Amino acid sequence: ADKKLWGGRFKEGTSASVEAYTESVSYDWRLYREDIAGSQAHARMLARQGVISGDEAETLCRGLEQVRAEIDAGDFQWKVELEDVHMNIEARLTEIVGPVGGKLHTGRSRNDQIGVDFRLHVNRSLKEWSELLAGLVNVLVHRAKEHQDTLLPGCTHLQPAQAVSLAQHLLAYACMFRRDHERVADCLKRVRVSPLGAAALSGTTYPLDPASAAMDLGFDRAFENSMDAVSDRDFAVEAIGAGSLIMAHLSRLCEELILWANPQFGYIRLPDAYSTGSSIMPQKKNPDICELMRGKTGRVYGSLMGMLTLLKGLPMTYNRDLQEDKEPFFDVDRTVGASVGIMADMLDQVEFVPQAMERALEAGFLNATELADYLVGRGMPFRQAHHASGACVALAESLGCGLAELSVEQMREAGAGVDEDVYAVLSYRASVQRRVSPGGTGPDSVREQLRVFDDWLAQH
Ligand code: ARG
Repeated sequence: ADKKLWGGRFKEGTSASVEAYTESVSYDWRLYREDIAGSQAHARMLARQGVISGDEAETLCRGLEQVRAEIDAGDFQWKVELEDVHMNIEARLTEIVGPVGGKLHTGRSRNDQIGVDFRLHVNRSLKEWSELLAGLVNVLVHRAKEHQDTLLPGCTHLQPAQAVSLAQHLLAYACMFRRDHERVADCLKRVRVSPLGAAALSGTTYPLDPASAAMDLGFDRAFENSMDAVSDRDFAVEAIGAGSLIMAHLSRLCEELILWANPQFGYIRLPDAYSTGSSIMPQKKNPDICELMRGKTGRVYGSLMGMLTLLKGLPMTYNRDLQEDKEPFFDVDRTVGASVGIMADMLDQVEFVPQAMERALEAGFLNATELADYLVGRGMPFRQAHHASGACVALAESLGCGLAELSVEQMREAGAGVDEDVYAVLSYRASVQRRVSPGGTGPDSVREQLRVFDDWLAQH
């Protein structure tokens, strides 16, 4: 029992199964850099406040540096019986520097320590997500610039609705990922708060200076309430929530890419490097990456639910339940980071097939709204124009042709009082060109959107 750093009041050792059940070092060892940085900042703060001497702080910081070097080099013996990353490092530190190692934990608890480690880690991960998201927006904007003149059927209910430019379609996704970027930045404000100095839950009798330790570690500020500081995991829920929306957006894009890669759409050709074959059907080129990303979205949502449920009903303050917060975040981090990165690389190389998109415009009467708007231009109330255009659609459908193949007489008989100039309006290209409303698929709007994105990308 005396082997444990907390073993003073215990007579018997922990049972092996309990040790295996309670340990976290098998995964929280990943926090060693943050843990060491946190300990060094704590030691320096203790010295500034006169709780330990400057020499002692020096010794502790240098010892911790050596521990870090050992871990970096893979020379470190992680011990399950030492439970977690904190006690493994502290035990080794004390081996290196001797009894002064025991002073490091003055005025500190593992409760504020793990808060520091986890927040530093989430901070670093979210900054990586931000960079990856900006990279993905950049690819979408770049591909949108190439395809301002490529038209495809815009859908509602996955049914042909109106012609849109591929640029407009891609920029819709760029908007989603830009929002995700903003969400991550907003979440970071609450991640970047240091709990160091809260000690176990109530503060301490030593004259600590949490604010200076927070600055030392690069946090924006220190906690305000020690009890909240050691039990708050909102930031992890928010981070996983932001990750969940990133995956939601990715999975929507995946779904469209999967559809578009189907030969019946044929809108895209996936790069070989981002597709896989079948073990039995020689012709197959499957969009497995998109399918996996869509699937992994469920796993990230699972972590969000797990994290929320973990916190539900927890009394103040630190409870060991909170140890279960790390693995979901690590998993989400891995999944989100890899998914955003791979999507950017894949989109950069996807081959769009404008001819297939244009061919698809011919089916589904995407110009029926244009016809109605034309009639409105001639003074017909919109409801009546809608009806007349619908009658033309029914006629064309029964004849197996498009609206533009109907004669002026046929349209008139169906109740649409048109002249020869209607055909200019029925052209899909014209329908996109003529859209002037802000934010729409018209060329001016798309150019303006691209300009705003260029400004945004220059700043991110
Ligand atoms: N391994 C713990 C965690 O991840 C560290 C804090 C443990 N504190 C305690 N009082 N047992 O939450």
